[in-house]
Amino acid sequence: MHRRRFHPALTVAALATCPALLPAQIAGVPDLCSDRPPATGAPLFSLDTRQQPSRAGSRPERPASDLSCIDLFSTGAGGEATGVITLTRPWSPFGVTVTPEGRHRHDLTAWISDLPDPTTLGDYQAYVAWATPLVLDPVVKLGQVQNGENALGEVAFNKYMVLVTAEASGDVTERTGPLVLRGRSPSSRMEAHDLMALAPAAEARPAIPDPFASPLWEVPPRYEGVPMLPGIMAARPRVSPLLPTVDTPAPLAEPRQIVELPDGGTLDLFAGFVRRRIQGRDVTMFAFNGQHPGPLIKVDQGSTIFVNFSNDTPFPTAVHWHGVRLENRFDGVPGVTQDPVKPGETFRYQVHFRDAGIYWYHPHHREDVQQELGLSGNMLVEPISEAYYSPVNREEVVMLDDILLSEAGLVPFGAESSNYMLMGRFGNVFLTNGEPEYSLEVDAGDVVRFHFTNASNTRTFNLSFRPMADPSASPLPIKIVGSDVGKFEREAVVESVVLAPAERYVVEVLFDEAGAYALLNHVQGINHRMGVFREEVSTLGAVAVSGVRTSADHSHAFETLRTNADVVADIDQYRDEFDRSPDRELVLTLEVDGLPIAIEQSMLYDWIYFNPVEWTGTMPVMNWATSGAGVEWILRDAETDDENMDISWSFRVGDIVKIRIHNDRGAFHAMQHPLHIHGQRFLVLEQNGVRNTNLVWKDTVLLPTGSTTDILLELSNPGRWMVHCHIAEHLESGMKFVLDVEGN
Ligand code: C2O
Ligand code: CU
Repeated sequence: MHRRRFHPALTVAALATCPALLPAQIAGVPDLCSDRPPATGAPLFSLDTRQQPSRAGSRPERPASDLSCIDLFSTGAGGEATGVITLTRPWSPFGVTVTPEGRHRHDLTAWISDLPDPTTLGDYQAYVAWATPLVLDPVVKLGQVQNGENALGEVAFNKYMVLVTAEASGDVTERTGPLVLRGRSPSSRMEAHDLMALAPAAEARPAIPDPFASPLWEVPPRYEGVPMLPGIMAARPRVSPLLPTVDTPAPLAEPRQIVELPDGGTLDLFAGFVRRRIQGRDVTMFAFNGQHPGPLIKVDQGSTIFVNFSNDTPFPTAVHWHGVRLENRFDGVPGVTQDPVKPGETFRYQVHFRDAGIYWYHPHHREDVQQELGLSGNMLVEPISEAYYSPVNREEVVMLDDILLSEAGLVPFGAESSNYMLMGRFGNVFLTNGEPEYSLEVDAGDVVRFHFTNASNTRTFNLSFRPMADPSASPLPIKIVGSDVGKFEREAVVESVVLAPAERYVVEVLFDEAGAYALLNHVQGINHRMGVFREEVSTLGAVAVSGVRTSADHSHAFETLRTNADVVADIDQYRDEFDRSPDRELVLTLEVDGLPIAIEQSMLYDWIYFNPVEWTGTMPVMNWATSGAGVEWILRDAETDDENMDISWSFRVGDIVKIRIHNDRGAFHAMQHPLHIHGQRFLVLEQNGVRNTNLVWKDTVLLPTGSTTDILLELSNPGRWMVHCHIAEHLESGMKFVLDVEGN
């Protein structure tokens, strides 16, 4: 197979605005932004440069320095002055740190040299740094600066500039003096480009047809408000369309029911067809026991249950118990822990719940189809200790999902392989606990504990609660309590909750005042065509708070932020391991081969900037046309260069392994990956060199574009366990391997 990768130096060449100076070489600048390859002044790109052979050695040289650094360039007034700003994210309990509106938050530190004495520039005594969006309003003062290191505080604009001016004093509140240094945020380099020059095939009218495409497809729904490249209009997936159909009318899906199982209890679970009417379209879907989501299984921590599963769908399948440290042969991975359960067949699972918290079950075979069609459900594992959580008035288990509908109904899937292989299949209708309109009624003063699970194929959510009547009012404070496998060391208050596919977060919210509140997903997508951010706000549900006062006031407990001594003590056993060097390194990247030329070319024009998270599906047609014929997402062992299923890692129960994971910024279409490890638990130690100071056991970690993340994996459970990206289409493209853990 002829494989293509981009050469990493290309990025830097593309960014060079002033090749003569390299501000990053100022003394003291942290690794993140120093020691970058020098700019060469090479052309932005040519198709030839893209054919360079894949680079030798596997680690990206720098974790995406161009996404984490701002070079400060001197204006005429600044003489020799130069500088660089490092962007680090303030701590958050999530894989990325964003505002409730979904803007990425960064702490800025400036390293400046050769600023002249300000008095030499006129009547000035000090230098002051400012941040401003590209429209130059507002201009926010960051503070006085001088040669050396300067903490500038936090900035959360989508695109912005940093300015340094000479001023009469460090106390000025408005910028009036001469500009001496200026720099632009990495995001600001994303601009509308001259598409005719950059992507001729993507601009071509009429579009150039792809000779390998399947002609059987209708073009899927577009993303409203984002113009499409005309040359893309002829692109079609190179696989044929697939939509499961059923002869006899299937029953209507029912809402989820709660199944409380005692230790030793048994659940009969079947996967089969259901009918639904969603936003005026009749669709045929799958369900567990006819329910959307599947039955909510409630068990006590420490119990073992049996599940008699039968497959009434036309596809081979299996049930994976995500996050549960169960016996390997019941992990539900066809080809690894069991044979697929063929249509009409059965399998008996034995599921032991070692850890308290929220888990979920879903198929592990053509997950992109089966999970999207409705096969997913939660398990809520009640802790043994009564004081494990704070008292609340109510607990809500909420499964977040989206589904992709055209006017006619469901958009078909790829038959021979998944399509939407590049970015995953974003839905255009949100389903919260299976419904486009989720609602909840509580009394004023009630505290609700939400157990959120992201069951979507690829979408990362940014959830907040705001008053319906005033969407500009501040969001309700959210107390963050736990995540995938139990509680945080310390509770914290946030304004929004970010969760990537398969992640869970346990949070508490106090609804103190009567009224209607919206559960929102609020993100900043990218209009790739115009090179601008595009805000997307979606209402996922409503909470109606009645005028009646709560029957039990738990506000005091809500306002108390607990330190969880049990979690701290558990993690204490591992702290000695935190600082050692990594045992293994993984690189997450992408290989593409033979994509339609219009897609290859048009992917280049926004190439110089990638959002830490691709929040929404603003390139629905281009993404739709990609399939296994052309896209392979890669997990690569940096030591051996083995990729995906060729990676062979084996450990013993009791081993503690530190893994450094690079999400390659230089990939053809770099994006985030939620990486999941079966049957074990791990801690996220640090990202881009910044230590995580409030830990929680995880089974899935969101790895933003260009990031380098260290995790500490505890091997507590023998067997053969999958490691994979939980974007369903990335998994289908092969982004997975098996971890062998030998028993003692
Ligand atoms: Cu949700 Cu391989 O898992
Ligand atoms: Cu992925």
